[in-house]
Amino acid sequence: MSDAPSPELFDKIVNLCKRRGFVFPSAEIYGGFRSTYDYGPMGVLLLRNVKNSWWRSMVQLRHDVVGLDAAILGPPKIWEASGHLANFTDPLVDCKSCQSRWRLDKLEDPDVCPNCGARGQFTEPRAFNLMFKTHAGPVEGSGHEVYLRPETAQGMFVNFANVLNTSRKRPPFGIAQIGKSFRNEITPGNFVFRTREFEQMEMEFFVPPDDADQWYEYWCAERYQWYLDLGMPEELLRLRPHGADELSHYSSATSDVEFLFPWGWDELEGIANRGNYDLTQHQTHSGEKLEYFDQASGERYLPHVIEPAAGATRTAMAFLLAAYHEIEVRGERRTVLRLHHRIAPYQAAVLPLSKKEDLVEPSRAVHRILAEHWMVDYDETQSIGKRYARQDETGTPFCVTYDFDSLEDGAVTVRERDSMEQERVSIDRLVAYLGERLV
Ligand code: GAP
Repeated sequence: MSDAPSPELFDKIVNLCKRRGFVFPSAEIYGGFRSTYDYGPMGVLLLRNVKNSWWRSMVQLRHDVVGLDAAILGPPKIWEASGHLANFTDPLVDCKSCQSRWRLDKLEDPDVCPNCGARGQFTEPRAFNLMFKTHAGPVEGSGHEVYLRPETAQGMFVNFANVLNTSRKRPPFGIAQIGKSFRNEITPGNFVFRTREFEQMEMEFFVPPDDADQWYEYWCAERYQWYLDLGMPEELLRLRPHGADELSHYSSATSDVEFLFPWGWDELEGIANRGNYDLTQHQTHSGEKLEYFDQASGERYLPHVIEPAAGATRTAMAFLLAAYHEIEVRGERRTVLRLHHRIAPYQAAVLPLSKKEDLVEPSRAVHRILAEHWMVDYDETQSIGKRYARQDETGTPFCVTYDFDSLEDGAVTVRERDSMEQERVSIDRLVAYLGERLV
């Protein structure tokens, strides 16, 4: 059973991320840039694997979902229709005593400044729109304003008719997208949990109105299971239905998949029954008909939408927190990331026992064989024990050691991360051996 992640664990993860090349503060040589992060050699693999696992489950393995990659820049009309221009705001207050700025709805005591402790010194709250605005072309000013998308979802709504007309999909069907979104968060923080630039994995599932409740239940269960299937411990995960006071006016039901972060339960993903709100809005604002005509029943209707909306960057961090373990090996404290093999940065590492040329060349040949199938690291520095420890620390499930006997018997030693058990495997059988274990 896993413990609830502690604040100390959080610091260890932030430290590990920097030390082992998962996440770097952005523009660090210039002093960093306001809660913005870059994903290093390990982080880019982890994040890509999270996204690929989502895509595999949401698009590749389904007959009823297709993909999309829509533009990040959008004209004001989209955001007028979606309601973001008018309503995508947070209540912002300034402390008159220390000039710090806060989100009113996130303050523990709405009267007390958490920075300087001043009471009753906040300005009147004002609505602060979270969208980043910029200009298209050389002229600044009205008529040239564009917005960076604050969610990927609108790309699916504005392309609903395009996809319907080109893909031969019919409700119930979904459109899925992974990509960057941007929000000018007032209080970003908790490392990559809340940032101004982040990645989302969203799917809009269009259904006949009468079937919406049933599909909502279906997607809540599917999405919860996805995290468990990737090794998230059940005691760190919950599905929390929103209370009536939390629901947007157009949503009849929403549930969040939540993870037990060091600061408590917090959101990884929201699954919402959005009714026909979005298509109605875009139909009204664009003047384009977005109804679906069902030839079988002779009915014309605006499909209802079930939306599972997850954060890739936030989810990658939750997987790291859940996977972090410290173990004692021969009196030495070591870190092991027990990441599921599908999301571990590398699935295997090839380690020649010595740097001698007669071992290096055949080891590289083994690396080449495996690299056709998986992301495989290659490391010939330091002692073998230290190299095992380094691979454990970044979650590599299998280490493959090529030693002097390998030159004679054409076999290598395969070490498994969690059990640390070692097995001699012939190089001829190596791909099949790992293939059975990396499904
Ligand atoms: N289309 C619905 C939508 O965007 P959301 O709950 O605002 O819903 C979905 O966002 C997911 O995107 C969240 O559950 C979270 O994982 C991620 N997310 C939202 N804002 C974020 C931020 N500032 N930084 C990192 N992830 C964020």
